[in-house]
Amino acid sequence: MSRKVLVIAGDGIGPEIAVEARKVLDVANERFNLDIEFDEALLGGSAYDTVGVPLPDETLEKAKASDAILFGAIGGPKWDNNERHLRPEQGLLDIRSKLELFGNLRPAILYPQLADASSLKPEVVSGLDILIVRELTGGIYFGEPRGIRTLENGEREGYNTYKYSESEIERIARVAFEAAQKRSGKLCSVDKANVLEATVLWREVLDRMAPEYPDVELSHMYVDNAAMQLVRAPKQFDVLVTGNMFGDILSDAAAMLTGSIGMLPSASLDKNNRGMYEPCHGSAPDIAGQGKANPLAMILSAAMMLRYSLNAPEAADAIEAAVSSVLDQGLRTPDIFTEGDTLVNTSGMGEAVAVALKQ
Ligand code: IPM
Ligand code: MG
Repeated sequence: MSRKVLVIAGDGIGPEIAVEARKVLDVANERFNLDIEFDEALLGGSAYDTVGVPLPDETLEKAKASDAILFGAIGGPKWDNNERHLRPEQGLLDIRSKLELFGNLRPAILYPQLADASSLKPEVVSGLDILIVRELTGGIYFGEPRGIRTLENGEREGYNTYKYSESEIERIARVAFEAAQKRSGKLCSVDKANVLEATVLWREVLDRMAPEYPDVELSHMYVDNAAMQLVRAPKQFDVLVTGNMFGDILSDAAAMLTGSIGMLPSASLDKNNRGMYEPCHGSAPDIAGQGKANPLAMILSAAMMLRYSLNAPEAADAIEAAVSSVLDQGLRTPDIFTEGDTLVNTSGMGEAVAVALKQ
């Protein structure tokens, strides 16, 4: 059975890290007889430059015809003044929404070799292994009405709508409860129920569902406290579940606990576990084209893709082990470099993982 993977490199450092992920996947493909067929498509700024829209129809069609999508990053200052519907980010939001990729899994795992690269003390982060489950196709990112309007007094006003329906809350909560069941059984739901009605309902729905998962211990935390606890004592968490915007913010914070945002992969899944896999970091236009980008988040995203959408868990384990072994060898891109390590560039890191995977 062949497996179809669509690679969308995107903008900024996207193409550089996508090449490295492909190198690693090519080795996995051969070593584990995965029979993966690759195709490529445009999204974001590069799509806008080529065909005038950030999400071309062809990309969406190819995405729908694939078993999984591996995506780099989009965006950059070049397109910052585009109208909102022509911004690169809109292409990403549209593809997430049109493919109904509501379940975003963002694991933050500290590789022990990187304990010194974290901005937090090693004892605070050593052994860290948390999973942020972020709702990805609803909330304030998509709520209508939205816009910038002119008031009667001539002043302009920007507005967005934060809303979640019960069914949207329920389906992301199921993803989180099930993930917690497979892990330590601890689930913390993050909201702002002391202020926002949308999250009062969020909390209510989670509480209502909890008896269905007697093996999961559900707790609730306000998002401001969660942000503080993440940098104070992150190991108190196992699985966190939250809405789109809070998840965006908390996952960047969690990424830094692991040494670098360049280490954090993600999976965005639909109800059938078909998904798009992408590093949590952005397109880093300031370092694009310089060989400084860390390709590990994208390589680890490819591993998640093998595990969740392509039913190849051994290959996923092998890629993760290969990443760990290059870290053991002391190889580091600039973002995770500390005194005494061996500095490598983007392709040096990708190559080393590919070599380790061959062994
Ligand atoms: C992310 C990114 C995106 C988001 C941007 C690029 C639209 O920050 O995946 O976390 O906000 O979801
Ligand atoms: Mg983000």
